[in-house]
Amino acid sequence: MTQYSSIQEAMHKGSGKVSVRGWIHRQRGSNKFKFVVLRDSSNIIQCIFEREKFDKKWDEIDHLQVEASLEISGQIKKDERAPTGYEIQVESYTIVGLSENYPIGKDQSVEFLADNRHLWLRSQRMIAILKIRSTVFHAIHEYFRNHGFFEYHSPIFQAVQCEGGAELFSVDYFGKKDVFLGQTWQLYAEPAIFALEKIYTISPSFRAEKSKTSRHLTEYWHAEMEMAWAEFKDIQDHAEGLIKQVVKKVLEKHGPELEVLGRDVKKLEPTAKKPFVRMTYDEALKVLDQKCKMKVQWGKDLRTIEEEKLTKLYDVPVIVTHYPKVVKAFYMTEDPKNPKTVQGCDVLAPEGYGEIVGGSHREHDLEKIKKRLVAQGEDPAQYEFYLDTRRYGSVPHGGFGMGVERLIAWICGLETVKDAIPFPRTMERYKP
Ligand code: 4AD
Ligand code: MG
Repeated sequence: MTQYSSIQEAMHKGSGKVSVRGWIHRQRGSNKFKFVVLRDSSNIIQCIFEREKFDKKWDEIDHLQVEASLEISGQIKKDERAPTGYEIQVESYTIVGLSENYPIGKDQSVEFLADNRHLWLRSQRMIAILKIRSTVFHAIHEYFRNHGFFEYHSPIFQAVQCEGGAELFSVDYFGKKDVFLGQTWQLYAEPAIFALEKIYTISPSFRAEKSKTSRHLTEYWHAEMEMAWAEFKDIQDHAEGLIKQVVKKVLEKHGPELEVLGRDVKKLEPTAKKPFVRMTYDEALKVLDQKCKMKVQWGKDLRTIEEEKLTKLYDVPVIVTHYPKVVKAFYMTEDPKNPKTVQGCDVLAPEGYGEIVGGSHREHDLEKIKKRLVAQGEDPAQYEFYLDTRRYGSVPHGGFGMGVERLIAWICGLETVKDAIPFPRTMERYKP
């Protein structure tokens, strides 16, 4: 049996006989040679077929097209002219799967690439993003596990809203209509802190948002944590710690991928090294007014444009705290010093990428929660299971949720979150 190595391993070996397998990334021919750039998940390498060696099979070799799959054995050697500095002189080969008229070439429209997403995944760009995505998920798990959190899972079929009823996807659940796809794990996570104290998840969340922006998906991956005995500051500290760890890991591991994406790593380094900027909503309004000449009326949420202007002033994420109660969810703790505001925070990514984390301390006062549910048009009776968390041994607690695609989009410097996920789902697209 042939022992195959990855292209990266073969280049590491650098000389002698190697066997590799993969797909044709590029090809060109002359009547003496066929140049094939072979791709596998690790890298690409130039392979040369010499007509003299394969005269009887030349027709077959000459007709090989982009994305055909091949097994190749031959001699590897350094060659400055080759795209990755090495080439393989082919001695034997097997065609595993032919390919004909691969539809994806240069300069195709965004729409065409979206229709052919299943093929576009093979591009060097998507490969780089998907590798970084894998590391981001790994780093999130690592951060929480290193800090004593248990992985815990909430249901996706849920019977209550948490972040606003307008954005719920309802499901026909055996004819019942009060079932939704989860927007967040939160209301089913809070009950579990009484069992496990510190928990986290990475799970899909669903939002029926009619926004056609570069920041909104209808299905996205949500990294969430919830912890007992937490003060508001603990929540902010963990959000900062988590983002730092993820960025550090990506910088350590993915220099080549960030280069493929044209990402300037200098833009990421401060986040790995320096403390984040923290300011209250009131301070944010002052900074926006003084430095950006933007007046925001107190009580209004920060809009995308304001978040953009604010974050462009700093080279690290900005944690904005103490938003007005009216713009935030019903479960956030009123600030004792100013009950018009809540102990909630958003983490805004640099370079105008905007909100990547939303979190808060959780209101413990049962009557206040009920009142705020009613104010939002909800029936507290539907929330009895949740309200029990405040009846039997309630403790101070809190948590946050991070949009993983938003984090990846910023780390990779992408124009849209759609490129941060293999098959993006938006208001307009749910196929292929
Ligand atoms: O700010 P949000 O709505 O907060 C919550 O869901 C809390 N219950 C989380 C918690 O405390 N456990 O959402 C959290 C994050 C946002 O900051 C954003 O990064 C991401 O989820 N997000 C989206 N990402 C992509 N597409 C969308 N449509 C998103 N909506 C929210
Ligand atoms: Mg939010």
